[in-house]
Amino acid sequence: MNILVTGGAGYIGSICVEELVKQGHSVSVIDNLQEGHREAVQPKAVFYEGSFGDKQLLSTIFKTHKIDAVIHFAAETTVEFSMTDPQLYFINNVVNGVNLLEVMKDNGCKRFIFSSTAATFGEPEHTPIDEKHTQKPINAYGESKLMFEKILDWYHSAYGFKFNAFRYFNAAGASERLGEDHRHESHLIPIVLKTALDVQNNRRTKGLKVFGQDYPTKDGTCVRDYIHVVDLAKAHILALENLEIHSNAKYNMGNGKGFSVLEVIEIAKKITGLDIPFEFAKKRAGDPAILVASSDKISSEAGWKPDYPSLETIIKTAWEWHSRHPNGYSV
Ligand code: UFG
Repeated sequence: MNILVTGGAGYIGSICVEELVKQGHSVSVIDNLQEGHREAVQPKAVFYEGSFGDKQLLSTIFKTHKIDAVIHFAAETTVEFSMTDPQLYFINNVVNGVNLLEVMKDNGCKRFIFSSTAATFGEPEHTPIDEKHTQKPINAYGESKLMFEKILDWYHSAYGFKFNAFRYFNAAGASERLGEDHRHESHLIPIVLKTALDVQNNRRTKGLKVFGQDYPTKDGTCVRDYIHVVDLAKAHILALENLEIHSNAKYNMGNGKGFSVLEVIEIAKKITGLDIPFEFAKKRAGDPAILVASSDKISSEAGWKPDYPSLETIIKTAWEWHSRHPNGYSV
């Protein structure tokens, strides 16, 4: 298939492109490199630097490569910033997303895989969160992604779009070549591992902060469901293969097991063999206490099964990547 991947230079997008290329697909990538890295783009993919909001560039890509399907990763994704600058989230994640769908429609391309998020659920009413759980986001990031899920329902019923939306829980880990390197790092596992690298190299650490210690959880810190990024990437490809059967499907993507922030730090200490200092800090705006997924639906409908379900393995692959790339993609 000829596949366009938006955000294919980013963390999850680049690893999905790597898997698509391995499976013999022809891939075009559009990425403005605001968060993504040119080095992360598979050499076999055709790369376009630009915004997925640029309809003219998109039209050129569709016409040049006869695109059959789009996997849409590009987005504003930081929960914290979405609370102070929601406009950016609605423009990029909703308005520009609709522009992308319009270009697809104009070019007769109606297959779409969408990166949605656990943040569309808000505070869970029950755990694990299955697809029937109410969606009541508590941050603008989640709201923008939920809006787009609903837009996709309408594009399905009115224009015959076939789509799958994946609500990612916490993607983590690395492939052999590609890992997590955000320009502004806000995610727990890379921050924990960078702290470990600082300790290993006798550098002053930036200081790992644990946000909140009185959540209603086992040890007072937030609980999350970590999923290996390669398992997540493979699910997108399965979804493409199943799109004719499940043409309007939403799937929750996690491993069904929750780990607190303190447990993540403990496992990272064990894997790195290093002491990882931290201090408690005040809660971060927009953080739900517990997010754990039920991924039974994708398992039964598409036969998805994680290859790396253990958090130890997830953190180990991330640690190996960070150890090889102590300055991320800039080395
Ligand atoms: N955390 C810390 N210290 C840090 C960074 C994170 O204590 O320096 C905590 C957070 O408060 C949270 C947990 O570690 O409780 C995980 O935080 P991440 O930033 O790694 O991930 P989030 O759970 O906030 O975000 C992820 C995805 C989002 C998605 C969200 C669903 O990255 O895209 O899950 O709420 F929206």
